[in-house]
Amino acid sequence: MAATLRRSTAETMRQRKAEHLEVALDDGVETVTGPGWHDVHLVHEALPEVDLDAVDLRTPLLGHTLDLPLLIAGMTGGHDGATVVNGALARAAQRHGLAIGLGSQRAALVDPTLEPTYAVVREQAPDALVIGNIGAVQLIDQDDRPALTFAQLRRVVEMIGADALAIHLNVLEEAVQPEGDRRARGVAEAIGELSATLGVPIVVKETGAGIARGTAERLRDLGVAALDVGGLGGTSFALVERVRARRQHDLRGSALGDDVAEWGIPTAVSVAGARSAGLPLIATGGVRSGLDAAKALALGATAVGVARPLLLAAREGEEAIDAWVLRFATTLATVLQLTGCTTPAQLARRPHVVTGVTRAWMDDLGWRAR
Ligand SMILES: Cc1cc2nc3c(=O)[nH]c(=O)nc-3n(C[C@H](O)[C@H](O)[C@H](O)COP(=O)(O)O)c2cc1C
Repeated sequence: MAATLRRSTAETMRQRKAEHLEVALDDGVETVTGPGWHDVHLVHEALPEVDLDAVDLRTPLLGHTLDLPLLIAGMTGGHDGATVVNGALARAAQRHGLAIGLGSQRAALVDPTLEPTYAVVREQAPDALVIGNIGAVQLIDQDDRPALTFAQLRRVVEMIGADALAIHLNVLEEAVQPEGDRRARGVAEAIGELSATLGVPIVVKETGAGIARGTAERLRDLGVAALDVGGLGGTSFALVERVRARRQHDLRGSALGDDVAEWGIPTAVSVAGARSAGLPLIATGGVRSGLDAAKALALGATAVGVARPLLLAAREGEEAIDAWVLRFATTLATVLQLTGCTTPAQLARRPHVVTGVTRAWMDDLGWRAR
């Protein structure tokens, strides 16, 4: 009985992971609300005293030095099609000196035969900063199963030789997902315990709804090593789960998905808010160019994370990933020169202007300065 249940859970999860990848490749999974980059303006320096060749994009993050302040955000693993995607993205991370995250690794804990779909990342990117991934809701008891054990969480790290573990926060996604986990109480305490005991740094990562200033400061106090704000703008898992709910004729999930698809704190606003925690900050959610990245860095991010654009590029082939990364690096380096900076970190000390809705968010919440 238990073995049959385990098999069906593994199959459901494998199917869900494959569906996430398939749905995310379609149009209609990005929010209408933007991440806010359009409202952030950098100030041109007509006398920069910086040669383009002197711009150095290298960025320290979690004990590594990235060649670019770019993380391939965690997306997949746990189903047959994932090995090819993860392999291609990992080779790009290795070639370009990027960090790379994985999709949730729970599937491989339920069915260890799926470990290679994740382990391919470390095989193909032996030198990269590799960040494992598990859902925060797995750290507490759910209605149908207990919290993951410490041994299981160590296995998540070991199966990929992870340099850090991302705990993803996704209450919004779980709420819309037909088979989602609805319990969330106790997660903060579990994150605190894990930060003290796991043996690798913990990155707490939202997945589309952003992290508020107070939450960022609480996470810092719990011992978390870095934050990924995962803000509103870009790929929305409320929209992805709405598609799945509709396919399953799940009226609750599809109606809720309609109602909350645009919920959350836009990425630019969340970066400005979370900056006060003083932790390394990754800006993910709707970063689509080196210019968006420069704006995120000006607001206080250490690096940016990019998911869907690199998934679309991976579908085209490895040259398309290289072209995307090259364009990103060229634009970012040029913007650094145009603002008189030689390093990405200097952008945070250059003037910038915030307008429109993004300014209203920041001003109302008092998140602009600090
Ligand atoms: C197909 C797909 C699967 C994803 N799976 C995960 C996951 O398992 N864990 C996680 O933390 N984030 C996951 N994400 C979220 C991304 O890491 C990222 O936060 C989000 O897509 C926003 O970035 P984007 O606008 O550049 O796509 C996934 C994204 C995509 C596109």
